[in-house]
Amino acid sequence: MIRDIINKDVHSNFAEELKSAFKGDIIGREIIFYESTTSTNDRVLEIGEKGESPEGIVVIADTQSRGKGRLGRSWLSPPGVNLYFTVLLKPSSSPNEAAVLTFMAGIAVVSAIREYLGLKAVIKWPNDVLINGKKVGGILMEMRAVMEKINFIALGIGVNVNMSLETLDNDIKVIATSLKQEGGMHIDRFELLWKILSKLDYWYKIFLNGNKRVLIDEWLRLDSTIGQKVRIKTSALNKGERQQIGDGVISGIAEAVDEHGRLIVRLESGGLEKVTAGDVTIVKN
Ligand code: BTN
Repeated sequence: MIRDIINKDVHSNFAEELKSAFKGDIIGREIIFYESTTSTNDRVLEIGEKGESPEGIVVIADTQSRGKGRLGRSWLSPPGVNLYFTVLLKPSSSPNEAAVLTFMAGIAVVSAIREYLGLKAVIKWPNDVLINGKKVGGILMEMRAVMEKINFIALGIGVNVNMSLETLDNDIKVIATSLKQEGGMHIDRFELLWKILSKLDYWYKIFLNGNKRVLIDEWLRLDSTIGQKVRIKTSALNKGERQQIGDGVISGIAEAVDEHGRLIVRLESGGLEKVTAGDVTIVKN
């Protein structure tokens, strides 16, 4: 049995042990471990800016002092309990293909949780990982592009693994959970990380081979958003069909995702809106 090796006494060996246990072709070629850092995304952005490293490097931290969430939020990152890691990717694609890479991360996390732990994890658009309607993981992709070409991507993944909910504020407790809370058992972070990285390696090769449709179909298989009545708080990042600028709320039925990862919503008025970024609430009848 592989023990949870992200413990205080074995920190220094962590990257080495993971490297010898994990054999990805691209993802995990190099693994860097920090006991503490501001944000693993920040470390990978620095590595990417230098331009010297090949893609596939994974930066892992036991705790983050400034963990970042989507839409400018912070990501709770206590030590000793969860997974926080970021992968450097350098696909020779255009920026509008990048959303599919966040889909890839959602697929990897959800399928690893399902196969390793038998818990019914699902994706909520764009890439929240939920169990029993509560968030257990999230993905933050940060991209640097020059003209119409991706320079590099920091694909950050956070999973609440053994975090106890007792320590959380009440308003977070209603929307967030952890794998331990849902599964009722302590989980080996090392083994879960290993499974997620293997899945990322598998799906990234499918992306590089140009099989984007296969990726989108797999995302749809694991998704819980399509077909639901939704209310979406859109952000200023959103550029829908009506080129909506600024914050707003869209209500309707989530009908599909397009090849750019946008959510296509049938509005109550009958029209269609393509949503690029926002927070989805599934409306229960
Ligand atoms: C979300 O808001 O759902 C995205 C959360 C992403 C959190 C991860 S933890 C590892 C990486 N480093 C960060 O600062 N954020 C991402």
